[in-house]
Amino acid sequence: MTRLSVNINKVALLRNARGGNLPDLIQFAKDCEEFGAQGITVHPRPDERHVRYDDLRPLKQVVQTEFNIEGYPSEYFLQNILDVKPDQCTLVPDPPGVLTSDTGWDMWKNQSFLSDVVRELHKVGVRVSLFCNPIEREVEGAAKTGADRVEFYTGHYAEQYESNREAAIAPHISAGKTAAELGLGVNAGHDLNLDNLAFYHQQMPMLAEVSIGHALISDALYYGVSNTIQMYRVLLS
Ligand code: PXP
Repeated sequence: MTRLSVNINKVALLRNARGGNLPDLIQFAKDCEEFGAQGITVHPRPDERHVRYDDLRPLKQVVQTEFNIEGYPSEYFLQNILDVKPDQCTLVPDPPGVLTSDTGWDMWKNQSFLSDVVRELHKVGVRVSLFCNPIEREVEGAAKTGADRVEFYTGHYAEQYESNREAAIAPHISAGKTAAELGLGVNAGHDLNLDNLAFYHQQMPMLAEVSIGHALISDALYYGVSNTIQMYRVLLS
């Protein structure tokens, strides 16, 4: 089974636009679960333009499925993770001002840093996933850090899907097989949507979880949140 984790950063962005509490992020997370989300993902960034650090504790209290926090492992981010203890933490190599995460870690250059962070997070029982380009050597580097999973960056897959979906998926299949052989779980995310998700899922039998934000929240403007979550769930069944 591949789980659908709904990334609710865009809902926080909308809330922040007016400074009040509309829409209510915490209620939204609860409702997503009620409508079929199998996880809730948030990604606090240094400027807190989306989810804010003070959203993490209230979210942890209500999320019943799987709480996944993504982010660059700065000291401040890690303090929060050690305190909140989400089910999963996805580490991304984002520089501070980046628009969105658009590449995985260089696992070899960052080997000792990542190994240290993985060890710290394991001490408090947090599963660790590393944002990873779908390249076998990077997967091997991820395994060496002691991480539990990799999250494949699917931005290039999504870009290439329309013109040549076989070529787009090929690196994911081989990197996914390597991950499975090395005992790493496989997550995926970025630019997955109602058009390109089913093929990705069919071709990746080892896929444990997808986290989807931008397209899903955009689709919800037309179809409603409940229908949209069901539409994505159908593609993963
Ligand atoms: N995975 C990571 C590491 C991300 O940074 C993001 C975007 O916040 C996603 C997945 C989800 O991407 P999208 O919003 O395009 O669905």
